[in-house]
Amino acid sequence: MGSEEITTSEESRGHLKQLVAIGLIASLIGIALGLAIDWFPTQASTQAEKVDTLWDVLLIFSVPVFVLVITVVLYSVWRFRMKPGEELKDGPPIHGNTRLEIVWTAIPAIILVALCSYAYVTLTDIEEADASALNVTVVGEQFTWTFYYDVDGKKVASPQLYVPRGKQVYFTVQSQDVIHDFWVPAFRMKIDAVPGVDTHLRVTPKTNGDYPVVCAELCGLGHSVMRQTAHVVDQSEFDKWLQDRASGATAGGGGADEAGGNAGAPDGKSVFTDASCGGCHALKDAGTTGGTGPELDKVLADKDAGFIEKSIVDPSAEIAPGFSDGLMPANFGETLQPAELDALVKYLDKVSG
Ligand code: CUA
Repeated sequence: MGSEEITTSEESRGHLKQLVAIGLIASLIGIALGLAIDWFPTQASTQAEKVDTLWDVLLIFSVPVFVLVITVVLYSVWRFRMKPGEELKDGPPIHGNTRLEIVWTAIPAIILVALCSYAYVTLTDIEEADASALNVTVVGEQFTWTFYYDVDGKKVASPQLYVPRGKQVYFTVQSQDVIHDFWVPAFRMKIDAVPGVDTHLRVTPKTNGDYPVVCAELCGLGHSVMRQTAHVVDQSEFDKWLQDRASGATAGGGGADEAGGNAGAPDGKSVFTDASCGGCHALKDAGTTGGTGPELDKVLADKDAGFIEKSIVDPSAEIAPGFSDGLMPANFGETLQPAELDALVKYLDKVSG
């Protein structure tokens, strides 16, 4: 090996220069395009910045590899293709080139080890535990998320996720039925919710705002509508919200900054929206079109408040024709506060005619 060097004639040097030039220009264009694309939503957590930087670095290294391979293939097809009359011509056999083989093994190996090390350091960094983290339990079920907070040893449930800015949140993720996946794209962190297993996730929110909570694992008919909202708020606002929630005085989510605040009775329409009822149910007044569950304008048209309340708290009691039992979460009686349930029933009774 190594005794037979590739022919280094003027011609092949010329080809190599051309290849390198094309590959270099194409790589630079590829990297520039890759970095110019706005791939991700708002960076709403401290983890997000680090994940995005990792993405950019991986892009800078992987684009040239892809471009190099494609350039060599296309260049070879163009320059070295067999032309008419060349059928019997063939280049001299090459038995190996030790220097070339060492180089093309060593460079990818070094790049791989470097990128793996960097990814490992990033992962360790974003998963670093903070002893004072806020504990939130996330429970997934077909087809909703419920968030549980611990207030003086008492479990407080909410259909909306509220987290304070600047404080690490330690999520314990569970599932009541099939595999779901708890994902807040703006936080960049996601993890499976597996029946019978507790999985964990750490997030330190850093930008106030409302962000979608998404289910990222195909879990059944309502998978695509298994969406709720994560609210990142100031610590003081979070404390007030949690206290109100614990004492049952909350105005059905929507945030303390909204008109009416937490002082008055909950607004039924907000409860409908916040508990993502519209994900599965069409309701004209709320402008929702979900088709996983019955269309409420129709099935509730001639029903009274008692029926509506029973259908929410105990959805198996009576199943609308054409729908199957077990589709609707059975725990709204638990996760909605009495005042919210009351407001929701009144609202549905009113708008369904
Ligand atoms: Cu739950 Cu997809």
